Amino acid sequence: MKKVLIDCDPGIDDSLALALAAGSSDSLDIVGVTTVGGNVDLELTTANALALREFLQLGDVPVTPGSAGALLHRTVRATAVHGSTGLGDVVLPQPGRGPSEGHAVDFIVRTLEAAPGEITLVAVGPLTNIALAVRREPRIVEWARDLVIMGGSYTRGNHNPAAEFNMLADPEAAAIVFEAGWTVKMLGLDVTLTASVTSGVLERMRPLGRLSGLLVPAAQFYGVVTDESGPAIHDACAVAYVLDPGLFTCVPAVVNVETAGQHTRGMTVTDFKISDRDANALVATSLDVPAFWDLVIGSYEKLATRLG
Ligand code: RIB
Ligand code: CA
Repeated sequence: MKKVLIDCDPGIDDSLALALAAGSSDSLDIVGVTTVGGNVDLELTTANALALREFLQLGDVPVTPGSAGALLHRTVRATAVHGSTGLGDVVLPQPGRGPSEGHAVDFIVRTLEAAPGEITLVAVGPLTNIALAVRREPRIVEWARDLVIMGGSYTRGNHNPAAEFNMLADPEAAAIVFEAGWTVKMLGLDVTLTASVTSGVLERMRPLGRLSGLLVPAAQFYGVVTDESGPAIHDACAVAYVLDPGLFTCVPAVVNVETAGQHTRGMTVTDFKISDRDANALVATSLDVPAFWDLVIGSYEKLATRLG
């Protein structure tokens, strides 16, 4: 059983990533969910995480809010992509329980300290909470079993030509995380954009009872679904990596995050030619897409039998 702590900014693809984790309960133990301002404001990402906890029947998994905005500079949001609520036009039942007391950074530090070497940090939003946790307690770099992020790219951006959203939303935080001393498992746009919900995938989501009431409208809001293309469920790739890293081809690299460029702020400058330097990242370069969808849909099917 792999233990994961998921830091997220739900967010449409965050919700599909949480659903993947929820459906994989036979191999994943979610020890906590922490939230960060990102796609939408912290109040909304936290409200969405609380609603998802109950809708996905995650039981008593603690949900702890963290940082509302970036370490420096102005806040970037993606409401044009995720809608004003952060979950497109999906309306989940109001949650009956609120968030845990305290701050996500303290939750991350004490949870990793209590189980050194056991818990994989999965970060699928801006890296503000992770960076603050590293600053608060640098030893989390040793205590974390792994750090897997959805973020960055070595070929292109999405929020602008240079930068992927999670990196652009807090470049200083991303720089701190990549320089902290661990080997970041970077699931960037280069692979996540191939994890797209085509019409064939959408048809596999339809017969999943209550769960399809989240999956189908969320995917359809997230982008145009055709036979050949569709919205990419970026964040689910990070969870899939924890479940089966063999789905991905990964290459060691030195990744530096641009924080000063007028047009390149948030760019993950990725150098694969590192014979004389130690890698600070393992960068995913390809994904076995059919096997990915078999894993994801299989997990959703298991979850659907629980949700009804
Ligand atoms: O660029 C994709 C990432 O930005 C995903 O994590 C999505 O949720 C948004 O936060
Ligand atoms: Ca996200």
